[in-house]
Amino acid sequence: MALFQKKKKSEALPPPRHIAIIMDGNGRWAKKRGLPRRAGHAAGAETFRTIANYCRSIGVEYLTVYAFSTENWKRSQEEISGIMELLKRYLKEAIADMEKNHVRFVFFGDLSRLSPELQTLARDAAERSKVYQGVQVNFCLNYGGRDEIVQGAQRFASEVAAGKRKPEELTEALFSDYLYSAGVPDPELVIRPSGELRTSNFLPWQSAYSEYVFMDVLWPDFKTKDLDEAIAQFHRRNRRFGGR
Ligand code: IPE
Ligand code: IPE
Ligand code: MG
Repeated sequence: MALFQKKKKSEALPPPRHIAIIMDGNGRWAKKRGLPRRAGHAAGAETFRTIANYCRSIGVEYLTVYAFSTENWKRSQEEISGIMELLKRYLKEAIADMEKNHVRFVFFGDLSRLSPELQTLARDAAERSKVYQGVQVNFCLNYGGRDEIVQGAQRFASEVAAGKRKPEELTEALFSDYLYSAGVPDPELVIRPSGELRTSNFLPWQSAYSEYVFMDVLWPDFKTKDLDEAIAQFHRRNRRFGGR
């Protein structure tokens, strides 16, 4: 009985405002089933849809997902084209879906390396969803955490060179405004499914004090109950931020 009451209590706790997820394990999911990797990416896209809607329904304000990294260009041309095709289809559907579910889409990453069609779809999705007040999805596409920091540093340096800023003005808070995540609070919780115990260049600046939850489930198998479990783990952590 005592245990039951404890569980109920933790379920009543509000979710973190900002959850970030490394959507990993699509390839292994497909391999286990004797399917092409592309099938794993398609299944992963469905999981994303379910989890984004679930986040909206439980009141998460920001969901940041890692979809394609600056390092993923190392993969075979066949896999990359498959992922890009899927993204195109997905973004077209997402625009309709967003209108129904009031999801606001923001893209983190260097979109300039994507095809013009994909760039237009991404910009269109971001523009059209600006007004929605549901969950904000930060979709990391050709995203690299180090690349984000270098690009931010270059932008700040060029403003210094143009006389708009002074080097000594730079603080941690100001530098945050030069990142893709400008204006977004840091994620309290970062989840990595698939069993890998690393962060793979995901949000190194923003996750300096995030709670990490690593899970063995492969992303296409990730269910809303896994998100509940990660949130429950988060609530059991003692966050100290260097204090005591
Ligand atoms: C994540 O799944 C999706 C991308 C990185 C594009 P993976 O494709 O990395 O799947 P695994 O890790 O090989 O199983
Ligand atoms: C991280 O997964 C990138 C995405 C999920 C988009 P990877 O599969 O690329 O990372 P590594 O290679 O296991 O570190
Ligand atoms: Mg992987």
